[in-house]
Amino acid sequence: MRLLVTGGAGFIGSNFVHLTERTRPDARITVVDAFTYAANEASLEGAAATIVRGDIADAALLDELLADFGPDDAIVHFAAESHNDNSIAGPSPFIDTNIRGTFELLEAARRHDIRFHHISTDEVYGDLPLGTPERFIEATPYHPSSPYSASKAGADMLVRAWIRTYGLRATLSNCSNNYGPRQHVEKFIPRQITTLDDGGRPRLYGTGDNVRDWIHVDDHNEAVWAILERGRLGETYLVGADGEASNREIVRLLCEIMGHDPDAVDFVTDRPGHDRRYAIDAGKLQAELGWEPRYTDLRAGLEQTVDWYRKHREWWEPSKGVVEEKYAKIEEVLER
Ligand code: NAD
Ligand code: DAU
Repeated sequence: MRLLVTGGAGFIGSNFVHLTERTRPDARITVVDAFTYAANEASLEGAAATIVRGDIADAALLDELLADFGPDDAIVHFAAESHNDNSIAGPSPFIDTNIRGTFELLEAARRHDIRFHHISTDEVYGDLPLGTPERFIEATPYHPSSPYSASKAGADMLVRAWIRTYGLRATLSNCSNNYGPRQHVEKFIPRQITTLDDGGRPRLYGTGDNVRDWIHVDDHNEAVWAILERGRLGETYLVGADGEASNREIVRLLCEIMGHDPDAVDFVTDRPGHDRRYAIDAGKLQAELGWEPRYTDLRAGLEQTVDWYRKHREWWEPSKGVVEEKYAKIEEVLER
């Protein structure tokens, strides 16, 4: 099987490449990645995949990459602008990549009749109240809050239209918050780990009570494989591992794991439009495809993640200063 993996130099995409090469050695992977600030060449070190530097909105490049793909091959579409705070500060690239880029890929998949799997997010459903048992299911209406989640919702709608109108052989998955190795230091968990490692204080938005439903990146990527191998064409599958925790609880766990005072945290001005809570009901994925998460102990998963960041300082250190400067500017604007 040949796979075109978009965004394969980012967090989830690079972990997908490594997991695939470990577990499905017959798969031949081509990565196409624009190598934006979010990519890291070191994330693909040791991978056998062919790596192509390019934009998913470049139709001619896509034709070239798909020229010798056959009916059993697939596109796995991870590439995106992925960070909410960036989308609030400057939404334009989110429209270009997440909507225009997905459109060009869908058109390329249609021209070459290639199976397409679209990676999306639970954020398209908006948020849930705190402290209720409610969870997202596949039929939950779309209600995105941020420019990022709105652009992902737009991309999902395009995929669904291409399935219905053109009969594109496609599937979608909407996953909750991922954690694990190779996640950019702008994101919540790596930001706090690397700040603590540098002797700083974790930074919590608002009250720190917002809840996310954490899943290890390898569990997400095994779910993607379950869908590629056994998923019904045209269907959407929600992916989550019952990992609900408030941001404050995550920081407390990280402080305990890393040997820091859990009360030495800074509360900063809240993210505008901040979603309160995400929670996934992954019943369809489990019942239909037999997928189960392997990382069911969040503390153990975080310990493994902390260990990875401690052992790979050279991977994250070059971006840390730039990211903290960016956050300082955002905080300054929000405090005004
Ligand atoms: P990331 O920001 O770490 O990586 C995105 C990758 O896409 C980067 O390597 C970047 O260079 C590449 N890219 C961006 N624009 C591109 C373009 N125009 N052409 C080609 N490549 C481009 O993101 P991530 O966290 O790995 O997320 C991957 C996907 O999973 C995204 O679609 C995201 O919406 C989705 N998702 C993420 C999470 C999460 O918790 N991180 C959860 C659910 C879904
Ligand atoms: O739910 C899936 C989504 O999860 C993905 O679609 C996105 O690509 C991914 O970035 C993530 O979005 P979030 O906005 O939930 O993740 P982030 O890591 O930015 O923040 C997680 C929570 O932590 C959120 O409630 C905001 C809060 N936060 C974040 C940062 C960076 C803080 O309290 N302090 C921080 O320093």
